[in-house]
Amino acid sequence: MTQDTDVLLDEKRIFKPSEAVIEKAHIKEWESELEKGKDIEKYWSEKAEQFTWFRKWDKVLDGSEKPFYKWFVNGKINMAYNAVDRWINTEKRNQVAILYVNERGDEKKITYYELYREVNKFANALKNIGVKKGDKVSMYLPMCPELLIAMLACTKIGAIHSIVYSGLSVGALVERIEDADSKILITADGTFRRGKIIDLKKISDEAVQMSPIVETIIVVKNAGNPIKISELSGREVMYSSLIEGEPSECEPEMLDAEDPLYILYTSGSTGKPKGVLHTTGGYMVGVATTLKNVFDIHEDDLWWCTADIGWVTGHSYIAYGPLLLGTTTLVYEGAPDYPDPGAWWRIVEKYGVTKFYTAPTAIRHLMRFGNKYPSKHDLSSLRILGSVGEPINPEAWIWYHENIGKGEVPIMDTWWQTETGMYLISPLPVTPLKPGSATRPLPGIEAEIMDADGNPVPLGKGGLLVIKTPWPAMLRTLYKDPERYIKTYWEIVPGGVYTAGDIARKDEDGYFWIQGRSDDVLKISGHRIGTSEVESAFVGHPAVAEAAVIGKADPIKGEVIKAFIILKEDNRLDSKVIEELKNHVRHELGPVAVVGEIIQMEKLPKTRSGKIMRRVLRARERGEDIGDTSTLEE
Ligand code: WT7
Repeated sequence: MTQDTDVLLDEKRIFKPSEAVIEKAHIKEWESELEKGKDIEKYWSEKAEQFTWFRKWDKVLDGSEKPFYKWFVNGKINMAYNAVDRWINTEKRNQVAILYVNERGDEKKITYYELYREVNKFANALKNIGVKKGDKVSMYLPMCPELLIAMLACTKIGAIHSIVYSGLSVGALVERIEDADSKILITADGTFRRGKIIDLKKISDEAVQMSPIVETIIVVKNAGNPIKISELSGREVMYSSLIEGEPSECEPEMLDAEDPLYILYTSGSTGKPKGVLHTTGGYMVGVATTLKNVFDIHEDDLWWCTADIGWVTGHSYIAYGPLLLGTTTLVYEGAPDYPDPGAWWRIVEKYGVTKFYTAPTAIRHLMRFGNKYPSKHDLSSLRILGSVGEPINPEAWIWYHENIGKGEVPIMDTWWQTETGMYLISPLPVTPLKPGSATRPLPGIEAEIMDADGNPVPLGKGGLLVIKTPWPAMLRTLYKDPERYIKTYWEIVPGGVYTAGDIARKDEDGYFWIQGRSDDVLKISGHRIGTSEVESAFVGHPAVAEAAVIGKADPIKGEVIKAFIILKEDNRLDSKVIEELKNHVRHELGPVAVVGEIIQMEKLPKTRSGKIMRRVLRARERGEDIGDTSTLEE
């Protein structure tokens, strides 16, 4: 995708940090910190010192088998130990680690000591049912404390978690369980959403019926939904009975820095979702450092990231990052606008949230209701705001800044990906901000805009965003598919650089302006979804012969699905079929797959070799020139 409009680069407003922010900041000088980051190995090894290593690393970075980089070679460490155990003999022992709040107003506070005991009990329970180091455990859970406990319990014993976002549905769940070879699935009776209960157990049942590989289904009671056990009896066990009587002590497994921590599936241009593999040591160092520096985390903070743990944002910055820093992480289960569009601001006021991190789509959604709701609440506890998931349009940035941040609070626009594991391009609190720009690469990170031949493009011109040097939380491979790992990220642009899959520009101050994806990936409400996955969902419907999918601009969601379909003979695209197709796609992929428009076609633009040319459909949608069509079939 190339955009030649200069809309974003015309944004010339600059917002300087206030004295109050600078005074409190861990890092007071941006430029000198960037300078320090130039010695990558020294920079990251200093950051690694804050953790408890059972054995120190021999070498910070090993690039002898590029692009399969290794960090903190031969270091021995445990994530749960560093995120939880490390705090229980300190003054943080009785501090709240997890503050759980839901849309019904229920709350639970779990201290570090309580979390320690719960993690250990569940870790022991997992061992009892035969889970060993290196085993995969799938989770299809709502935003409940048990999700964090289960993640930590896995890492305590060296099991690898694979979390599936609870807004994805049966098809996606089956695919992910099977690809990860998970013998264990942890799910729940349900989750609260806009006053209703979504029955996750029912979706899990359907998935497990198609995945005989699952031997044990652990069910968390979360929503008080009645549970039907019958048809899967023998394979199911309640979480509560599993942990009953388990000891609250469990020795941490001594993991290698490069032992896998988790797999998280994300969408690519083609084929099935990619299992992004993250490992333990480098991820820990990268995530904790970036959260601490970008959101300036201190002892007295109450951190709230509104993402779902089912996405990388939640893995890195709801679960692991905040606990590694010993802060309190607010876990919210529910919708942003239920019971009313002031729901989030009420929580900020009630608990005194100090750092608040959300997505542009949520801001645009809440912006529609004007200042009425934010102005009803005291938001003066907020010290730093954040944005992630897609480019934030300057209008939403300004609204967020004025109405939530009262014109004082800086906004950290953090650019990163499932694959990067941690923020790569982001301001620090002391950075002068431009609305719509993630500013510059963080200390220790080198990014550039290049053309497909590996030449840097001139300032102001669009090109491919690449990362030139490795970083500690980088993905290590794609699970079971090292070839695809190399092809997707390291061979698009020559010169051994990582290609992110985004189009971006750089301005005269070196600020990066992300424009959107360069591949066939959609961003619907900040959620990443591959056009090919949506196409196969369409084709899975008996009336559909062929389908091509592109993104269609949407003022709130950023993008929604626009599908061009060829129906099988004797089918007509009437309103009933349209409804049915929408439901079908939703059932396969979940509510993230929002279908905005379906158009019936006689033919789809294809290359002579039969590949659908989505580029042609996209150009037509945007009223642009179709470009080079020499490969077009007819
Ligand atoms: C893609 C990664 C990592 C957080 C959640 C999304 C887009 C992410 C920004 C930002 C502009 C952004 C990019 C990226 N993106 N953050 N601050 N400004 N675009 O993770 O699902 O792996 O998606 O989200 O297109 O490649 P993800």
